[in-house]
Order: sequence, then structure tokens, then C-alpha cells
Amino acid sequence: MKSDTTAESAAADGTSAARKVFVKTYGCQMNVYDSQRMADSLALEGYAETSSMQEADFVLLNTCHIREKAAEKVYSELGRVRAVKAERAGRGLETIVGVAGCVAQAEGREILRRESAVDLVIGPQTYHRLPGALRRALDGHRIVETDYAVEDKFDHLPKPGRAGIAARGVTAFLTVQEGCDKFCTFCVVPYTRGSEVSRPVAQIVAEAERLAGAGVRELTLLGQNVNAWHGEGPDGNEWGLGRLLFRLAELPGILRLRYTTSHPRDMSEDLIAAHRDLDVLMPYLHLPVQAGSDRVLKSMNRRHTAADYLRLVERIRKARPDIAMSGDFIVGFPGETEADFQLTLDLVRDVGYAQAFSFKYSPRPGTPGAERSDQVGEGEKNDRLPRLQALLARQQRDFAQQLVGRTVGVLIEKPGRAGQRVGRSPWLQPVIVDESVGGFGEIVDVRVNKAGQQSLFAEPVA
Ligand code: SAH
Ligand code: SF4
Ligand code: F3S
Repeated sequence: MKSDTTAESAAADGTSAARKVFVKTYGCQMNVYDSQRMADSLALEGYAETSSMQEADFVLLNTCHIREKAAEKVYSELGRVRAVKAERAGRGLETIVGVAGCVAQAEGREILRRESAVDLVIGPQTYHRLPGALRRALDGHRIVETDYAVEDKFDHLPKPGRAGIAARGVTAFLTVQEGCDKFCTFCVVPYTRGSEVSRPVAQIVAEAERLAGAGVRELTLLGQNVNAWHGEGPDGNEWGLGRLLFRLAELPGILRLRYTTSHPRDMSEDLIAAHRDLDVLMPYLHLPVQAGSDRVLKSMNRRHTAADYLRLVERIRKARPDIAMSGDFIVGFPGETEADFQLTLDLVRDVGYAQAFSFKYSPRPGTPGAERSDQVGEGEKNDRLPRLQALLARQQRDFAQQLVGRTVGVLIEKPGRAGQRVGRSPWLQPVIVDESVGGFGEIVDVRVNKAGQQSLFAEPVA
């Protein structure tokens, strides 16, 4: 999960007369994807992207509601935005301020009440209506668009990769599934993103083809429950994510495929077979488990046991022995005891993660977890989290370390520091190479000679 990524790519048409939009993105990769689609639709309205809020005629925050801290960040940022808006008004410049994303969906009109600088609130299911909402805001209205649209927003959003829309490099996200019906008792996503919807096969394949045509070499399929994706294939049969991956693997230009985030309950045989049979499907799987105690898993409504998860990991590793596992963990869910927490540590030791994200439980309004009377104290959460994180960090280091001396394929993505280029290993690690190595969008074999904190350093194989 990335946070605080600011969309930086400028629109193709960078004339100084053009109006400017500043987009700041919080939360998950789907928000990154959504920010790009919104920026694309604004590009067609004559808005160029800027990385300077002071320059922006339209400031758009694409927000995250997953934990309290994430939501609070938005309000503190809005304080800064208010100051910029006032400063610009002093220069005779109008600024429209918009809030999109999961805080927008969860809080709606309340945001207008709490923050007078906000002109427009728009939820994830209505992004195709952003240009219209912006026009009405420019006419002096305060807008809230948080209904679930009846039309398919993907039919109405501009197509990535089409003319007039800036290309964004050799890797791209592609949302194939949105929303969630699982209702884990800690999670707001089913409330902010709505119920599970899968995009049709033809729409996904067409978007992937356009992206490949625009120079994209690595596609990451996105969904809150990406492996619950299903749709009718051209053969008239019901396809799951496995079949879809086989289809996308055929596209000329696509050298690498990934998908995220998966739920353990939806790892079908087809999907495991895709890991076994598809070289372009990267041997890396983000498969959150959250906790290692069956009692806690049950109260989280995860609907599997720790043993189920371990058996699943074993099956996946049998199909694809070099697969690296990634996960998410929550410590201090209501009712979690020290003994439960020890079971989480045991599970982590059993699996061995190449990467993981771990969080203190944050009670979210409207979720069953927040209502419980057996909340775990902040002190205990603060005690458990660093112990888990130390173990996970050690595993991550060990995983990187065992790559030293080995040859790995690296997709060269972008320039790095002076004289360097940055690519990624099959296991999502940034890899630093000399600028003479490969061209952007090429996969080159390099020898890893050092594992740093976050990155690998590598040189060409002779
Ligand atoms: N769909 C994914 C998770 C999406 S949210 C899945 O089912 O695994 C990303 C991660 O945020 C979750 O995996 C969980 O670890 C964490 N998270 C979600 N709600 C949380 C909460 N209320 N407090 C702390 N962490 C939370
Ligand atoms: Fe949230 Fe659970 Fe759905 Fe993941 S599966 S988005 S954690 S409710
Ligand atoms: Fe956050 Fe919404 Fe993504 S709550 S994690 S931005 S789905």
C-alpha cells in the first residue's frame, strides 16, 4: 500500500494558458488509478496537471478512510489548502477545492460543514461526473456527488492510452474489480466502495491493449477483492481471474502481470494454475491474513482458519516454488490477547514473508469491530506492533539478502539518481542499475551485488 503519492505527470498540453489541477492521492493503488482517470477526464476539459498547489485552479484530494490516521490527514491537509486558497484569492485567483475518495464517500456533506474551503465532494462511484460537478462548482454551487451511479462509470471515463491523454510510463494499474461483499468486521471498504462489481472481460482486454500500445509493459490488475473477479468470457463461459490472466498474457507488449489485493477465500484452482503455467505472471503474491489466531480470525469474519491459510500457501508454493509472499496484519483487534498475538507471530514464522504491512487496529465508525466493548488498550497495541514489525523486517531483509549473487530479470522503469536507472525485480523490489543498462521498458538480466534497506543494487551479467 502506498500513501501520499502525489500524481506528478503533466498533461500532454502544457500551455501556460491552460487551467491547472493539483491532485494529491492517499491510500491504496486503486486511488492512484482513480486519480489518473480523474486527471485524464480533466485533461480533456483543458486542465494540465501541476505538482504545485499554489499554481492550481483546482485542488483535488483523493482520500482514504481505512484508519483514523488516514482520515485525519485529510482534514489537516485541508487546513493547508484553505490557506493556499486565501493566498490565491489575494492574488485575484479563484481556486476550487474538491475532496474525492473514501472519506468523501463516508462523510459526504459533513465535509462541507467541517471545512468551509471545500466546494465539491465526490465519491468513487461517480468520478465520471467530475467535469460536470467542477463546472457547477465554478458557477458558485457547493456540490456533493456520493450517490451510487446507475450508469457504469468505466463506460464514461476517458480511456487510458487514448490520444490527448499523457502516457505514464512502463507500468500501469488497471482496475478490474471494485467494492467488497466480505464485511470483515474491522473494515470500512464495503461501505466506502460499495458492493462487489467486476468489469467485463472485453472492457478490460481493450484497456490493456491500449495501455500496451502506449508503451506499458507491466500491468497490475487491481481490486479490493481482485481474485473474486468474474465475468463472461468470449467463449460464453464464466471466467475467473485465472482465465483472465491467461488471456492478458497473450497480449503483445505485456511482459509482466501482477494483481492485488487477494482474499484467501478466493484463491481458485484456475488462479493457482496461472501461477504454475504463466511466466509473465510474477512470482509474488499479496495475500493478507490479518491474524494467526482462529478465534480472532473468526471475530474478524475472515471465514478461514490459520491452518486453511497455511495449507493454501503450501499449495501455491507447490505450483510456483519461487513465489514470494506478502501480507497485511492487524494487531490489537478487540479481544486479542497476548496468546492470540503469539499465534500471529507463529504464523509469520511459518510462512516467511518477503514483504508485509502491519497496523494497529483502528476502530472505524459504522463497523462491528468499533462497537465492541473489549477494545485492546493503546499500550498493548504499542507493545505488540513493534514486535511483529521486527520479525517481518528481519524476514524482508533475509529475503533480499538471499538474492545477492543471483541473476534476476529487472524491468527498467525510470531514471534514478545521476547516472542510474531504477527497475523492479520480479518480487517488486526496486533495483538500482547503471544508466547504461537496458532501455526503459526492457527486461534485462542483472546480477544482484548488494541488498540495501529498500532496494537491490545490481550490475549487468557479463
Ligand atoms: N481487501 C484487502 C484489504 C484492504 S484494506 C483484504 O481483504 O485483505 C488494506 C489493509 O488495511 C487490510 O488488509 C488491513 O490489514 C488494514 N486495515 C483495514 N481496516 C483496518 C482497521 N480498521 N484498522 C487497522 N488496519 C486496517
Ligand atoms: Fe475489507 Fe475484508 Fe473486504 Fe478486504 S475483504 S476490503 S479487509 S471487508
Ligand atoms: Fe483507503 Fe478507500 Fe483504498 S479506504 S485503502 S482508499 S479503498
